Amino acid sequence: MHRVVIMLAFAGLAFGQPVQYLESKKIFLLTTRQNSYAFGVGNDGALRHLYWGAPLWRADDLSAPAPRRDVSSFDPRQMMEAEEFPGWGGPRYYEPALKITRDDGGRDLVLRYASHRIEGNELTVNLRDINDAIEVSLIYRVYPEYGIVRRHAIIHNSTQHNLTIESAQSAVWNLPAGEGYQLTYVSGRWAAEDQLHHEPIYEGQKVLESRKGHTSHNFNPWFMIDAGDAGEEHGAVWFGALAWSGNWRITVEQTPYRQVRVTGGMNSFDFAYPLKPGDSLETPAFYGGYAASGFGSASRMLHRFERDEILPGGASSRLRPVLYNSWEATTFNVNEAGQKELADKAAKLGVELFVMDDGWFGARNNDRAGLGDWVVNPQKFPQGLKGLIDHVNSLGMDFGLWVEPEMVNANSDLYRKHPDWVINFPGRPRSELRNQMILNLAREDVKQYIFGVLDKLASEYNIRYFKWDMNRSFSEPGWPEAGAADERKLWVGYVRNLYDIIDRLRAKHPKLEIESCSGGGGRVDLGILRRVDEVWPSDNTEAFDRLRIQEGFTYAYTPKVMSAWVTDVPNMNGRAVSLSYRFLVMMQGALGIGANLNKFSEQDTATATRMVATYKRIRATVQTGDLYRLLSPRGDDVTASQYVAGDGRQSVLFAFRHAQQYQTAVPAIRLRGLDEKAVYKIEPVNGRPAPGQQQQYSGAYLMNNGLNLGLRGDYDATAVILERQ
Ligand code: GLA
Repeated sequence: MHRVVIMLAFAGLAFGQPVQYLESKKIFLLTTRQNSYAFGVGNDGALRHLYWGAPLWRADDLSAPAPRRDVSSFDPRQMMEAEEFPGWGGPRYYEPALKITRDDGGRDLVLRYASHRIEGNELTVNLRDINDAIEVSLIYRVYPEYGIVRRHAIIHNSTQHNLTIESAQSAVWNLPAGEGYQLTYVSGRWAAEDQLHHEPIYEGQKVLESRKGHTSHNFNPWFMIDAGDAGEEHGAVWFGALAWSGNWRITVEQTPYRQVRVTGGMNSFDFAYPLKPGDSLETPAFYGGYAASGFGSASRMLHRFERDEILPGGASSRLRPVLYNSWEATTFNVNEAGQKELADKAAKLGVELFVMDDGWFGARNNDRAGLGDWVVNPQKFPQGLKGLIDHVNSLGMDFGLWVEPEMVNANSDLYRKHPDWVINFPGRPRSELRNQMILNLAREDVKQYIFGVLDKLASEYNIRYFKWDMNRSFSEPGWPEAGAADERKLWVGYVRNLYDIIDRLRAKHPKLEIESCSGGGGRVDLGILRRVDEVWPSDNTEAFDRLRIQEGFTYAYTPKVMSAWVTDVPNMNGRAVSLSYRFLVMMQGALGIGANLNKFSEQDTATATRMVATYKRIRATVQTGDLYRLLSPRGDDVTASQYVAGDGRQSVLFAFRHAQQYQTAVPAIRLRGLDEKAVYKIEPVNGRPAPGQQQQYSGAYLMNNGLNLGLRGDYDATAVILERQ
């Protein structure tokens, strides 16, 4: 069966274009190797969703759905039709894709097909209101190799009058009609991000969102939906991920008519975006896909797509270097001598990128002062940063610097000079969180200032990497200078200008790399990932806690960008797992070290040096291979993940035991993604083969019988490297 589907998929691409239009039936069929998506123009001109699932190759199989009839005066036909991008108008009561108010108060918006254009893999369908020239372009970009379709909308006011947009969504994803679906998503909070949930979808709405101005730790803008029968490696999974780092909203809704629909885009909460005649608003990209074989295959599709199509530099970008970060070692007490000492020690371990964190600028001796004053602190660095950077470079490492450009402390020269630059409502309190306020990036002068500061640092010094932090959520989001009618544009303008600053900076400094951090994982999404090379998933570096955070993270995001540091113990929760356990957890992403190296014993140094060297041998597999989540940390006593290199020559298996009871042995762990016919050499990373473990096994044995790793006791950890012979 599987084989048939794959053959048809290839046939579809061989005999048809990724974007097909069947004029006779007015049907659009978008096809990739992994899936198809179809919609058509109804007799009334409304766009109706038709299909989302395994690949189809014959557009002629599809036909526009038969017109529905009103069931009662309370159940109009519009509510039973799966519209592709419904405006709020007529008898429609579900979550709209677009809601507007005209300046005469008229709010009814009924969108109809006007025209379309196909250019290569991109389809643009233009809609127009039944009465006036409110126009919407729906843009579909197909990525045939990756099984992904990107959707977004441009709303254009071609009327002679002002209007205000109250909700602008990027896309509505309709699931095949039916019930019993299950939603997979993550929730969390600071230091506890990305906790995974699978739960049934019932009638009504489930809202995943941020109202905090940034992506937030509380939910992350992606979803997966299955028919209630999927697992890691089996079952159909529909998924989507939104590229927006501001207020966003994904509404998962089951109507009373057996229709599940997912509507997502900018959050409509506190949203009001005026459009003058001739103005337009573009919504963020919402990427969607369908995977035939479980959550694992959906994640792998996203990972591959992100690496090749989203991240700066795409497939040609370099592997992430091993990083050292000074934060947990020195907090705000940085100075040239202390950082040089840490750099010497980091270089000996094999670190490739040395990052000095907070404390190097202005009067920044604690979190109460200095933010906004991006000048090197002369007491801590009398000669500027050049001495330190030269030293780091002479040790063969690149230099990275922590910045938090969007913020200001009340106790700073910048705030004393420009108190009006922060977001605020006049006469109201300016709530401080971590003693800081937010600069209004939507303002042109603030945007220029921030670009100028970062450009100057990157021009003056040999800085390879900025760790770009953002340590609080929005409050009192006012922009008095914009005027009452326009000030809510801040929600959109802030994010667009943030993106613009980073884009300009990268264009001017092509070798510069950026990490997105927001008190941990408060700004991780496909919008920021277009512009950064790594993200910091959580301020929680406690290795056992990280297992769950990393599980949730990898549902949507590639391990390549998952920065993971080995830090000191006891850590959060007072737990103290071994150094090799900590390394093995963190080696599953982009490895970093954040421990205080001044406290390392000789044995710690030896372990760390060995682990860093091992990581360099496997990092291409970890960062760019296929990830199989074999055993979940939410399940039994063992967590296991396996990575398989793109060319199949190497694989790595990581396994962790949480708490052994009753002397129970761990059953053999069955691997995946290997070649049955090949023979693999097994090399235990910690030099500790399990009792009776052979040095070589066939792929068939490893996948069907599995490998016994002999994990014992509490917080035991091991990893094996498999090299294909
Ligand atoms: C945030 C980050 C940390 C560190 C501190 C510095 O909390 O998440 O990694 O950079 O800020 O103040």
